[in-house]
Formats: sequence, structure tokens, C-alpha cells
Amino acid sequence: MTIVSLVTGVGPASSDLVPVGSYAAPLLDALRRAGLTVRERLLPAADAVLVLGAPDPATVALLLETGARGTPVLSVGPAPGLLSDAAGVLAGRVTPVHEVRVRPGPDAGEVPARLAGDLVVREAWPLLDKVADDVEVILTANVAFYDHPVATWRPATGVGLLTVGSLPGTFADPQWQRVVHRLLRHLIGERDADPVRVGVLGYGAIGHEHNAAITLTDGLELAAVCDPNPLRVQAARELTPTVRGHGRGEDLLADDGVDLVIVSTPPNSHAEWTLRALEAGKSVVVEKPFCLTVEEADRQVAAAAERGLTLAVYQNRRWDQDYLALKQVVRSGQLGEVFHYESFLGGYGHPCNYWHSDEAVSGGAIYDWGSHFLDWVMDLFPQPVEWVSATTHKRVWHDVTNADHSRVLVHFVDGVEAEFTHSDLAAALKPKFYVLGTEAGLIGDWRHEKVVQRSPIGTLLEDRMSHSDSPADLQLFRPDGFGGTSQTRLSLPPAPPQPFHRELADQLLSGWPMSVTPEGSRKNIALMQAATASAADGGRPAALPL
Ligand SMILES: NC(=O)c1ccc[n+]([C@@H]2O[C@H](COP(=O)([O-])OP(=O)(O)OC[C@H]3O[C@@H](n4cnc5c(N)ncnc54)[C@H](O)[C@@H]3O)[C@@H](O)[C@H]2O)c1
Repeated sequence: MTIVSLVTGVGPASSDLVPVGSYAAPLLDALRRAGLTVRERLLPAADAVLVLGAPDPATVALLLETGARGTPVLSVGPAPGLLSDAAGVLAGRVTPVHEVRVRPGPDAGEVPARLAGDLVVREAWPLLDKVADDVEVILTANVAFYDHPVATWRPATGVGLLTVGSLPGTFADPQWQRVVHRLLRHLIGERDADPVRVGVLGYGAIGHEHNAAITLTDGLELAAVCDPNPLRVQAARELTPTVRGHGRGEDLLADDGVDLVIVSTPPNSHAEWTLRALEAGKSVVVEKPFCLTVEEADRQVAAAAERGLTLAVYQNRRWDQDYLALKQVVRSGQLGEVFHYESFLGGYGHPCNYWHSDEAVSGGAIYDWGSHFLDWVMDLFPQPVEWVSATTHKRVWHDVTNADHSRVLVHFVDGVEAEFTHSDLAAALKPKFYVLGTEAGLIGDWRHEKVVQRSPIGTLLEDRMSHSDSPADLQLFRPDGFGGTSQTRLSLPPAPPQPFHRELADQLLSGWPMSVTPEGSRKNIALMQAATASAADGGRPAALPL
């Protein structure tokens, strides 16, 4: 277990110097979730010392001794002050607060692995004018077309610096927190574990998405796939020619060259295969829905914990651009207190003729898209659910067993209500999102996009995209004080590259925690189970199973 001694000094959170400890909590929480033991004093037994802000001269003397004895000291903030000499730098002028794009330096090693672009923070930071020859430059940022060191490490004195990290917004930034963790590991000499060898169990439509994401993720390799249909194994080889193929799940679980299994068979077999893979000593990613009952979810979580294995659910839509923007607006408080939330998906058309429309296999219409839309509800609203009510209609598509139309209403203990409607009978569409808060409202309208191309013989080819394949168009409505509303179109954040798979690799290789947890997906299953029970009982309110 890695023990980190924490020393806090003062830092320029605003123009006045304030104790950095007052806004360090998000960083310390994140480091603890990564398995580090953080002790808020200087301990001789520590593996590293993390210094936040500028410490007093007596503490600096102790830190210099600590570094010289071989325990690395990482000083975070724009004022290395009395630690500068030992760090081997001369700190020049401090920039104004501005957007800083932090990039790998010449001695970065593994620190920037899976960073996915620049680390962007708003900070005031000192331009290090001079750096001694034995100083490693790990991260840099550019000012006036010149790269300045942002993170340095001097093994000879045991002192490292991270010069961006003085404002509360930076301390709350998960990407920056992750960089601090990776710097600490680098200074201690901890390296990432070997790449994780992945096996995909069930290489259907979603298998290709996993294959492509694994190919693009540093630290994951696709070692094997298993599907009874040899054409599917062949499909996997088109992208990854070296992959081993198995026809039976048992053979994939017995494959010693597989560390982690992605269970992407149809939903009614998720729990069984996940438990068997965990029993075989493999970590598991299970496709959505996690499973069909909370009892199954609990068994899987317990089995993973017993064996110290990773279990993750592929809640990939937590990173949908429209959901990321909506969540940011809700969390920022711009809507005031959100008390009413509606979401909708559907249209008028025959459901697919495949297992997705077979209640016995898919869990039913509530599970199919509820694994995403109701997962968003549980992610947005952390308060306990008081009851759930759901109704379903079976009126037109009698050749399939999923309901044609379903509506789930979630009532939280504080009176907040959230609804999700899924319909294959909706000739008239509702917006994807309709959210009301005490100060503003938000509508996420479906976009109706076309893809227009020229055919090989020069004629026009026009394809209508399914509206569910485009992020919603988000409009924020604010009262203007004169009885009307002003309307702002929200821009969407860029789609992060392979966010789930990068988090997965981070967790397995360095212990950095994933933002999606099986406990979160268990809440989603509890909600869908209760909604399904309520629908079977004519819509009477049902409590969530414990
Ligand atoms: N996260 C997402 O956005 C997303 C999108 C699509 C599907 N999914 C989920 O992924 C899972 C698979 O969906 P899909 O659309 O790829 O289905 P699919 O039917 O296209 O693929 C399932 C594959 O599993 C194989 N299979 C079935 N039983 C097997 C067994 N015992 N051993 C090995 N292989 C077996 C089938 O031959 C098939 O190739 C489902 O749980 C679905 O809900 C998730």
C-alpha cells in the first residue's frame, strides 16, 4: 500500500494567500479512491510527500531532509520558493491566470499515458527560467511559442515540482487529479502493469466497437474472441488479425492468455457468464444492462470483491456529448433546483425482429433503452427514490414480445420527478430532454440530420440518420425579468476518445478509479426491476428492491 504524507502550506486561491488545505479535498478524495493512504502529516514511513502550496521555512528544511533521504517530495503550486534550489530550477515571473495547455515533456515516461489530448487548466504559474542539467522535464506548457517546464523531477535531491495547481477549479478537475497521481507514481518508481489481454465473449454488433476501442487504447490488447458463429470470429480478425478464436465460452474462460473478459452476449445471460468469468479468475466488463435483477447484481459485485477482480459495466452513454452538456448545466446550478425531468426516445415503426424485442431475452422494453436513459436519471439525481410507477402498452406489434410503448415515472423522496418514455408508436416525437429548474429550463430537441454524398456515377445519394444517432440540440431558457424568456443554444463538449476503455486501462494498470461503478449500475437495475414490477401491476407505485 502506498502511503503519502500530505503537507499543506498557503496558495494563491485568489489574490489573497489562503490555506490550500481548504480546497484540496477533491484531490485527496480521488487519491484515496485510487488506493493511496494519505496522512496529513510528515511520516518517516511515507513512500512520498505531497506538498500543496508554499510551506513555512521550518517545514521546508524537513522536506529537504526527507527528499535527500530518498523519499520523493512533490511540491504542487506556483511558488516552489525555498524548494527551488533543491528542485534545480529558477522560478521567473508568474503568468496571469489563463488557459494552460499542459503537454508531455522530453522525460515524460509513462506520466502522460492515456491522457487523451492536452491537460487544460486555468492557472497562474511561474515560468521556470533555468533548469539544472540533472532535472527531468516531465510536462511542459507553451508561452509565447516557448515550452516551459510545468512538472519536473530531480532524483539527486528527491524534489519534484508541479507548478500548475493553485486554484479550486484545478483541484476539482479529474484530469489534473489523475496527473498528480501519475506524477507521484513516477517519483516513487511505480510503473504501470503489463497490458491487459482482453477476451470478448459474444462478438456481435457491439463487439466491433470494443475491438476498435481496444486497438486505440494504450494498455489494452485484444487477445481472443469467442462466438459460436465462425463468421463473427472472422469479423474480429478483419480488425485484429492476430486474435485467437473460440467457439465455446468455456474455452475462452480457460484461455490463460486472457486477463479480462468482455461479456457481450444477450442480456439474460450476462449474470451467468460474468460469474463464471470471475470464478475463472478473470476481471469482467459486462455490457448493458448489467443484468436483470438486483440479486444478480449483488452476486456479481460480491464475487468480484471476494477475488479482488475488476468488474465494470459498459455505461458508454455517460459520455454522450448531449448528456455531458446537460449534466454540466444541472451541476453548475444554472437551472436552480431541478424538480422536473422528462426524457423520450422512439418513433413510429416496427421494432427489430431480433432478440432485442424478445422480453425473455432482453428483459423487456424498459431494460433495452432504460439501461442508458434511466442510468442518466440515477446519475443526475443522487437522492433516494421513494417509488417508481410504470405503464406499458401492447397494441400494434404483436409479433414481438417487448411492449410497444413504455413510460417510467421516478418519484424521489424530496418530490423531484423524472420520467422516461420509450415508444415504437410515437408518430409525434417529444424532445429527448425537457428539464425544469427553479431558475431556468432546458429542452434537448431531436436533430433530423441527412448525410448527402455523390454516388460513383455522380448522382445524389441522400440518407436520413436515425434521430437517436445524433446528439440532441440543447436550448437553455432563462426568464428575462420582463415576463419573457431568453434562449441560449448550448454548444456540446467534444466527444472524448474511448473514455470507457481508457478508464478501464487506468484502473487495471495503475489503480486509478473508474467514474462508472457497478454500484451505480446496480441502482439502474433496481429502478428497471421496480418499474417492470409496477408495469405488471397496472402502474401501481413500487419501491426499489433493497
Ligand atoms: N452499450 C451499448 O451502447 C450497446 C449497444 C448495442 C448492444 N449492447 C449490448 O451488447 C450486448 C450484445 O448486443 P449485440 O447488439 O452485439 O447483440 P448481437 O446479437 O449482435 O451479438 C451477440 C453475440 O453473442 C453471441 N453469443 C450468444 N451466446 C453466446 C455464448 N454462449 N457464447 C459466445 N457467444 C455467444 C452471438 O452469436 C452473437 O454474435 C447486449 O447486452 C446489448 O444490450 C450495448
